[in-house]
Amino acid sequence: MEVETSTIEKRFLAGGTTEREKTSDEGLRPKNFSEYIGQGKVVQNIEVMVKSAKIRNEAMDHALLSGPPGLGKTSLAMIIADALDSELHVISGPAIEKKGDLAAILTNLGERDVLFIDEIHRMPVAVEEILYSAMEDHRLDIVIGQGPSARTMKIDLNPFTLIGATTRSGLLSNPLRDRFMAHLHFDFYQTEELQQIIENNQSKLKVKVEEQAKISIADCSRGTPRIANRILRRVRDFALVEGTSSITSEQVKKSLELMEIDQLGLDRMDRKILSVIKDYYGGGPVGIEALCATLSEDRSTIEDVYEPYLLKEGFLLRTPRGREISDKSRAHL
Ligand SMILES: Nc1ncnc2c1ncn2[C@@H]1O[C@H](COP(=O)(O)OP(=O)(O)O)[C@@H](O)[C@H]1O
Ligand SMILES: [Mg+2]
Repeated sequence: MEVETSTIEKRFLAGGTTEREKTSDEGLRPKNFSEYIGQGKVVQNIEVMVKSAKIRNEAMDHALLSGPPGLGKTSLAMIIADALDSELHVISGPAIEKKGDLAAILTNLGERDVLFIDEIHRMPVAVEEILYSAMEDHRLDIVIGQGPSARTMKIDLNPFTLIGATTRSGLLSNPLRDRFMAHLHFDFYQTEELQQIIENNQSKLKVKVEEQAKISIADCSRGTPRIANRILRRVRDFALVEGTSSITSEQVKKSLELMEIDQLGLDRMDRKILSVIKDYYGGGPVGIEALCATLSEDRSTIEDVYEPYLLKEGFLLRTPRGREISDKSRAHL
């Protein structure tokens, strides 16, 4: 049995971003540390690193940001570059196909620039290797030719800061992971933090959200600011069409129904995962490979995008024999 989900849907569900959102996200991105809500530990660490770099008048140490999609990794990288008064260069790991592409980017970095590599765990290994000496010694070691005639060319680089983002730091190769001075892990947001984000964003979207409606949105956002913003936009549309001056929890409820998000904040794919385990595997345990095959879904998408929240909220259990659904899930389904 296979359960189909279109590619567009897959990207849209959970915290993943859609193309349209990438541009519309911009308006709601926090611009500085004071607008950046939550992630206390991560922010404290980063603030010290930024200040220290400024006192030393040197590039900030390399930092690795890890955590599920939509929790604010890209936003934080932008804030860091801004706080350092540095130029930010953004690239995506899987988009760099050849060593030469990355070498060109690295040699073009100005002194103390920030290079942000998103999805750094998906960079091809051959490409990744040239980062080792670049991160450690600000130098490129490029091998030209093959066999006995091969020689190494060394190119000096400007001191720069690499910020890597990944959905799971365990996916990085050891040599790459070891070269990051700071490993910062992002957690799901508390309801109060999401309420604060909604509070701050209502004026940017020129709407007013009633207190109870804020709580409903925050409760159904999977602990993820990107989802809170997504729901907020949808209810804004609702309020505009219905011609009301402020957003009510009734409107939130209708929007969530249209978005197929239930009262515990689970979306269609979340429920699909749980119901497949329940209906096809008697509640589990089921091995991750079998589960992904039944869902016709990438293992990494299940493990990095969906599972973290289901595990954290106790809907799903990870046992040595595979995935199992909990009593909470059974009651919910
Ligand atoms: N700490 C935060 N405070 C306020 N808004 C946030 C925060 N983190 C994320 N957001 C919102 O969520 C959206 C997605 O965040 P993003 O940085 O793109 O996540 P990631 O890169 O981890 O997938 C941002 O555009 C922003 O509107
Ligand atoms: Mg991102």
